[in-house]
Amino acid sequence: MALSKELIARLRKDFCLDWHGDHGASHWARVKQNGLLLAQETNADFEVVELFAFVHDSCRVNEWEDPDHGPRAAEYVERLRFEKLFTLGDGQFRQLQRACSGHTHETTNADITIATCWDADRLDLPRVGITPDPRYMATDVGAKMAREK
Ligand SMILES: [Fe+2]
Ligand SMILES: [Fe+2]
Repeated sequence: MALSKELIARLRKDFCLDWHGDHGASHWARVKQNGLLLAQETNADFEVVELFAFVHDSCRVNEWEDPDHGPRAAEYVERLRFEKLFTLGDGQFRQLQRACSGHTHETTNADITIATCWDADRLDLPRVGITPDPRYMATDVGAKMAREK
């Protein structure tokens, strides 16, 4: 289990937006749910997907335009790891950082774990009135799920 109570408490303390807002905890929980569903078929790393779900938007400073929130999250997770709020191997940690830094402006990635993270996030776009476009999904399973939305 990658998500400890301590980690969630820390994320909540540091998060500067509305915990119940468009990019807050309920979005993170749905991204986790999407991600774990996807990962069963893509064979992505469950721990990385779960952590991505809860950290990828944690450094947003507004609900609209904030193109740097991905790279900020990639930096922020270094501190969380150093403080032992989660444990990942070095390879997994690099995947997590890459998934965070690229999730705002990249479409796909050859690494299936990173691609799965991005699709998990995109599948939750209906919350803000956007239908995910199957053509812009990073995995075949994600594209199939987007078609079914
Ligand atoms: Fe984001
Ligand atoms: Fe997100």
